[in-house]
Amino acid sequence: MKILILNGVNLNMTGKREAVYGTETLDEINARLKVFAKERGADLEFFQSNSEGEIVDRLQKGGFDGLVINAGAYTHYSYAIADALYSVKTKKIEVHLSNILAREEFRQKSVLARNCDGCIAGLGADVYFLAVDHIIRSQNK
Ligand code: DQA
Repeated sequence: MKILILNGVNLNMTGKREAVYGTETLDEINARLKVFAKERGADLEFFQSNSEGEIVDRLQKGGFDGLVINAGAYTHYSYAIADALYSVKTKKIEVHLSNILAREEFRQKSVLARNCDGCIAGLGADVYFLAVDHIIRSQNK
């Protein structure tokens, strides 16, 4: 089973930006996540882009059995990514390091949410682990 971990705009700066996103870098999170998934029999592909079109292209390309997506600020206004997500037929989990519901008003709305199976937010890097764990467990049901 292959799960795509897709991070969008500014997530490459994780660990070096606002404190709300923690001090761990994306590479460090991904390294831990890879071990976690492998122990549970799943392979991960990591994709990060600051470009909306590249994110849409990667979603359209397919080749994965589950998706964890943190689109960053695109979450709040990208109808292009929302439309691309609609056509993804695997399990899709939206994640956010910070609790978007408890932040500025513009962050409280996700235009991607209606095209995802669930959303996990506000638990720091744990959100990626919880999403991967959920996808693996739902596959094994
Ligand atoms: C984020 C929340 C977004 O509002 C923000 O633009 C990000 C990161 C999060 O992981 O908490 O870049 O998606």
